[in-house]
Amino acid sequence: MNHIKIEEISKSFGETEVLQNITFDIKDGEFVVLLGPSGSGKSTLFQLIGGLLQPDSGRILLNDQDITGTKGNISYMPQSPSLLPWRTIMENVLLGQEIKGKKDTQVAKDMLDKAGLEEFKTSYPSQLSGGMKQRAAFIRALLSPQPFICLDEPFSALDELTRYEMQSWLLSIWEENKQSVLFVTHNIEEAIFLADRIIILSERPATVQKEFDIPFKRPKKKKKWILSDEFLFWKRKIYKELEGEEVI
Ligand SMILES: Nc1ncnc2c1ncn2[C@@H]1O[C@H](COP(=O)(O)OP(=O)(O)OP(=O)(O)O)[C@@H](O)[C@H]1O
Ligand SMILES: [Mg+2]
Repeated sequence: MNHIKIEEISKSFGETEVLQNITFDIKDGEFVVLLGPSGSGKSTLFQLIGGLLQPDSGRILLNDQDITGTKGNISYMPQSPSLLPWRTIMENVLLGQEIKGKKDTQVAKDMLDKAGLEEFKTSYPSQLSGGMKQRAAFIRALLSPQPFICLDEPFSALDELTRYEMQSWLLSIWEENKQSVLFVTHNIEEAIFLADRIIILSERPATVQKEFDIPFKRPKKKKKWILSDEFLFWKRKIYKELEGEEVI
């Protein structure tokens, strides 16, 4: 059982008030997507959950235990992939497991193969493109043993086709393991495709503007329902919430 609770979190940087009283939770095995304007504080919120920053007020609870400001409780993929330049790709993706004292090289190898990185296992990050680095960082987050994963725009550097493949791949892995996920994206379709629930943040200072339960049955098959009335209904609704205007 994993349950994470964000309780009335506020954070400012000097004069800039970034997060204001943010409260929401993520239940065991739930896939929650965070949508919000650029600069609203999404990455800041992730850094708070990961214990890299301290909030000015509020608490973060993991299974009712206060983890505010402590590291190592969640698996976190930052917005810019921070691979260690002196380690090969294989050594990088196994980092989270290594810290916890358990290594599963075969699973790592399979995941790298699936992500099109089979030829780069022994390469160093500087030899990879931006999108490849992002995929490797993403695999590292998935392989980390913590049951709760925070992904900050993991597919933003990928082209449309690779993005679709990675989304489907992520869902197939997630449907097997059902880890709790908090995922940031700017892309409305991606949010609807992946989420059980979408949380919309307002402009800075960010508050929780709205939550939507996305009631599609899993497994979701994007190609089939992306043009369905139901999908378009949700797309319009969320677009309106974000942009404050109707779309035809
Ligand atoms: N360490 C810091 N020191 C000072 N200001 C910061 C710091 N980190 C973030 N900020 C400010 O906090 C605000 C929110 O930044 P954040 O990176 O959380 O936004 P975001 O929602 O992730 O944006 P994007 O969608 O563009 O990634 C910005 O105004 C940013 O300048
Ligand atoms: Mg960000």
